Amino acid sequence: IYGEARPNARGVNLANEIEVDELAERMQKFARSRWDVTPLLAGDMISEATATVDNCNPALPSDVVGTVRDATADEVVAAIGVACDFAPHWDRTPVEERAAALVRAADAMEDNLPEFMALCAREAGKTVRDSISEVREAVDFLRYYAMRARKDFGEPQVLPGPTGEHNQLSLHGRGVFACISPWNFPLAIFTGQVSAALAAGNAVLAKPAEQTPAIAAAAVRLLHAAGVPREALQLLPGDGASVGGILTTDPRIDGVAFTGSTETARLINRSLANRDAPLAALIAETGGQNAMIVDSSALPEQVVKDVISSAFLSAGQRCSALRVLYLQVDVADRILEVLEGSVTELVVGDPRRMSTDVGPVIDTDALDMLQAHARRMEKEARLIARARVPDSLCGHFFAPCAFEIDGIGQLEREVFGPILHVVRYRSRDLDRVIDDINAANYGLTLGVHSRIDRTQMHVASRIRAGNRYVNRNMTGAVVGVQPFGGERLSGTGPKAGGPHYMHRFATERTLTVNT
Ligand code: SER
Repeated sequence: IYGEARPNARGVNLANEIEVDELAERMQKFARSRWDVTPLLAGDMISEATATVDNCNPALPSDVVGTVRDATADEVVAAIGVACDFAPHWDRTPVEERAAALVRAADAMEDNLPEFMALCAREAGKTVRDSISEVREAVDFLRYYAMRARKDFGEPQVLPGPTGEHNQLSLHGRGVFACISPWNFPLAIFTGQVSAALAAGNAVLAKPAEQTPAIAAAAVRLLHAAGVPREALQLLPGDGASVGGILTTDPRIDGVAFTGSTETARLINRSLANRDAPLAALIAETGGQNAMIVDSSALPEQVVKDVISSAFLSAGQRCSALRVLYLQVDVADRILEVLEGSVTELVVGDPRRMSTDVGPVIDTDALDMLQAHARRMEKEARLIARARVPDSLCGHFFAPCAFEIDGIGQLEREVFGPILHVVRYRSRDLDRVIDDINAANYGLTLGVHSRIDRTQMHVASRIRAGNRYVNRNMTGAVVGVQPFGGERLSGTGPKAGGPHYMHRFATERTLTVNT
């Protein structure tokens, strides 16, 4: 059991003023730091390119976090070659060595909490609480996959067979893995994908999201310093069309781990399938049209607290976030009254302030998309509540809001941000609600608020979702405790932070010896 092996990462006691002040002081050192990003390759830099772009803080666009120099096509191709040559060696490196490097990286990341928090705040607009959780989750992934590697990838499993024959089964890296990660968990998901692939014995080419390359570069430098060879892990900053396009069409890539939109997962799937190459593994974790069902036995205050945290915190920029809240009509007005007050009181602002609930959204594209959806909702739905964005803010801020709609079918796709949709339902229509949610074809998270055991299990067992939460919020899955991942349009189903995840990065080999 994971918990027996080691506890989850150290946290910060936000109720302890001394601890918080000390952390703030350590973070202050990074208030003006610049983190310039270039590709981190094992071979020599072969690029003539010097063009860089400024990487800016989404909460304060005049704050330049650093410059970014993308990998060129030649560099990507060369990096794949280096990874290909090194992969068999890395796979034969004793598991203990691979695991020990990840554990050293976890310790170093924990010790460098203030710098990683400052990066999460300045590059990704994360609040203090979210930044702490982000670093803790990354540390947890490093330690968890190190532990799983020692358990599953160490000694081969000896299997029974006829006398005179020895049979064993062992797990190996697949070869070269491309890890393509998102901006919403720029450290945790980046580190999770990369560490699982490395621990399983793959050479890794990591392409971070265009919006958050500095966080990824800091993580890669730390992994190199902890003993992961440069040939085993190279960083290729750049956009999906160029760097991602080369990685997913090159015949030498043996697997892709991708977290991002369902549309991009489909594109990657097609690219991999169209190659004249060995069949590659695709691990995709995508979005969700996540619903919560609340019946009349639920406790309204608890419901509202969990709705606020699930739909609006992290600016709704979690794939697990609540998008559609179903309220049984008997309690709907009572809950909506409390919800209205709570949404209005949300503090939108500078993510570095402890009092901030909701920071910026990631960029102007995200802001435009949310504003367009809110305008559509203003015409088609009833506004329940909207928070306020202070005039003094000049970043990419969006006012969290809630609308009453007719049903989940009114939404064409996931809307990635702090917009909640509310639907009233009658108790006798519960099964229709379940069918409607399943018909949306996503399958990531589900929330149920009910004090009736039968209802809890009825809903949880019929809705096809990877993570089901009863009488609590529905975000923030903990590594090794709530393995996380969805099905159908939400992904290919391996559970990050679960005991089977690393097997997707591996190939199994049987050895039979006639003795
Ligand atoms: N794992 C995150 C959560 O549970 C989402 O990516 O919220």
